[in-house]
Amino acid sequence: MNAPTTSAETLRSALAALLDGLPPKQAAQAVDRLIANYRGRTPTDAPVLRDRSDVAAYAAYRMPATFEAVRAALAAFADAAPEGWAPDSHTDIGGGTGAATWAVTSTWPAQRPVTVLDWAEPALHLGRELAAANPLLDDARWQRSRIGAALTVESTDLVTISYVLGELTAADRGSVVEAAARAAQTVVVIEPGTPDGYTRIIEARDRLIAAGLRVAAPCPHSAACPIEPGKDWCHFSARVSRSSLHRKVKGGSLPYEDEKFSYVAATRLPAEPATARIVRRPQIRKGQVLLDLCVADGALERTTVTKRHGPLYKAARDADWGDAWQ
Ligand SMILES: C[S@@+](CC[C@H](N)C(=O)[O-])C[C@H]1O[C@@H](n2cnc3c(N)ncnc32)[C@H](O)[C@@H]1O
Repeated sequence: MNAPTTSAETLRSALAALLDGLPPKQAAQAVDRLIANYRGRTPTDAPVLRDRSDVAAYAAYRMPATFEAVRAALAAFADAAPEGWAPDSHTDIGGGTGAATWAVTSTWPAQRPVTVLDWAEPALHLGRELAAANPLLDDARWQRSRIGAALTVESTDLVTISYVLGELTAADRGSVVEAAARAAQTVVVIEPGTPDGYTRIIEARDRLIAAGLRVAAPCPHSAACPIEPGKDWCHFSARVSRSSLHRKVKGGSLPYEDEKFSYVAATRLPAEPATARIVRRPQIRKGQVLLDLCVADGALERTTVTKRHGPLYKAARDADWGDAWQ
């Protein structure tokens, strides 16, 4: 009997099948166009993902990475959520080809009502096509919807807003986060791990707290972020293994890449945030590990764990950037 495949593997083969029909040259051109579009990007009043080759390029070029970033954010949230909790329903706003829907079914494997909202019909169409490979997404609704002041979101357990805020005007960023906070018990927002992405996450975090939610991850508290604006930015890293197809579309030969992302997960559930979070890659020295932590009293601090700390030292050596710390 074959070993069960993870949704990451299923997603990867669904993407490979999808691109089979697209000549590599056309895929590469679509990726170039996409990069140029996203690079010079200001909020547009029409979808960037206009046709099937744009969307196929987006899916091949970005979806494995956004999937892993969302999955990492959801894992941190799941650690803080009440034992055994899983969402009974999920809405993905600006969901595009559905990376976050795959991440949710990977984190909490079960069938549930899923709604994907996006204004780009070709993205929804391709998302639906890819989702045919994931039985847990059988009943997903792929709905055309524009984010703006008029956006309404039906009541749901979980809303994800992944890599979307950067495409919106300031007013629409406010509207979408507030609509999500009204509709959902839990809201998870993910952005690129850049200074601008972090700034958008902090704005969303402030809005979610003002709407009555509490931060469950990554922060150990719902007080102000201790990072001084402009000096640093809170972000994490998710490893993305690249298929040969992905390497072909993206260039480069490494078997993986690291996707940097910023996120916030806020909830009305009685969550227990981590006591502390490791906010940089741990520095391993001879006989000691240096950990940069964001701690529950709302400060940043560095702690040094040495061999003398016994089992804690082993835990520190195994700990990774983004992990919870005691
Ligand atoms: C970078 S993609 C992210 C897609 C997906 N959430 C992911 O993580 O891979 C941004 C998505 O937001 C959608 N979007 C941007 N502005 C929008 C708007 N005003 N209304 C609805 N969707 C929008 C785009 O069509 C696109 O699918």
